Amino acid sequence: VCRELGEPESLVIEERPSPLLGPDRLRLRVRACGVNYVDALFVAGRYQIRPEPPFVPGSEIAGEVIEVGPDVRGWAVGDRAIASVGLGGFVDEAVVPAAACNPTPATVDDPRAATMGQSYSTAWFTLTRRTHVEPGEWVAALGAGGGVGLATLDVARALGARTLAVASSADKLQRCIERGVHDVVNAGYEDVKDRVRTLTGGGADVVVDPVGGALSEAGLRALREQGRLMILGFASGEIPRLPANHVLLRNRLVIGVDWGAWALSRPREQRVLWGEVADAVTAGRLDPVAPTVLPLEAAATALRDLLERRVVGKLCLVPDAAR
Ligand SMILES: NC(=O)c1ccc[n+]([C@@H]2O[C@H](COP(=O)([O-])OP(=O)(O)OC[C@H]3O[C@@H](n4cnc5c(N)ncnc54)[C@H](OP(=O)(O)O)[C@@H]3O)[C@@H](O)[C@H]2O)c1
Repeated sequence: VCRELGEPESLVIEERPSPLLGPDRLRLRVRACGVNYVDALFVAGRYQIRPEPPFVPGSEIAGEVIEVGPDVRGWAVGDRAIASVGLGGFVDEAVVPAAACNPTPATVDDPRAATMGQSYSTAWFTLTRRTHVEPGEWVAALGAGGGVGLATLDVARALGARTLAVASSADKLQRCIERGVHDVVNAGYEDVKDRVRTLTGGGADVVVDPVGGALSEAGLRALREQGRLMILGFASGEIPRLPANHVLLRNRLVIGVDWGAWALSRPREQRVLWGEVADAVTAGRLDPVAPTVLPLEAAATALRDLLERRVVGKLCLVPDAAR
């Protein structure tokens, strides 16, 4: 529970009675809670939406249905579900609107299910809705060792693109290599613009940017003719000011991506989008990363590790009862 906005270490563990089940809701035995950068932003009070404490952080969960509200159709006790909840995910039992739930693809275990909803929806939305990646195009992912970055590379590969990982450390790039990326750029010591242009033979077609700061301008300038810079977020903590002359040059495009707001306001379209992701996972075209698993009590450590850039891939929290 976040009782006051601030550092992850201020989170406390509380026992609470089971919440009542509304008619349109499902009760889930939570098997795994995904940990996302946005959870740390909520706790710090640095997200666009600032909920008043006390609140429980945690924006995505995977679990098993243990009770079904009387108005709910299509769900039964024992079904496995993924839920995108915004808040309230770091729990062992959750009551969530059935509309916020999707069936867990049969081929995916709970830790992977709990960590793929946001990152894969975001990456799929970016590359198939906000732009349309064509087979053979070069897609470069900034922050490639993070959740959105790894999902972007996987989705780009599934769409037939050639992929480039840009990250700041050798272990993050090694993970990308193990997952079959075409080439890597170490932003810690290489010139990102020059390396991307060299490796792609003139520039990337698409740069996906969840990092911001100085890396965004390098990403923009690494684009070829009519290349697209996709702005997803600012994990660096710095919102970049991009020079418009480099947008004009080569007829480039800078495109905003706000999957969260889109999914909330268009639940039917999100359901279609998730169906596409789930089908691709089931068919083996997508391969979501297996996360590092920690106990639920380690929520603060998990958020701290994310903030300090120590995490390669994804993290999930597993409640006692699910271990
Ligand atoms: N627009 C949308 O629809 C949407 C959807 C989901 C997430 N997001 C946003 O995308 C961003 C990344 O999310 P994520 O889940 O991929 O997070 P993540 O797993 O923590 O990865 C973020 C990456 O950013 C890089 N980074 C650079 N400077 C950093 C800093 N000061 N602190 C932390 N990381 C830093 C790190 O890579 P290096 O160490 O290699 O630089 C890290 O791997 C977040 O801001 C999130 O809110 C946006």
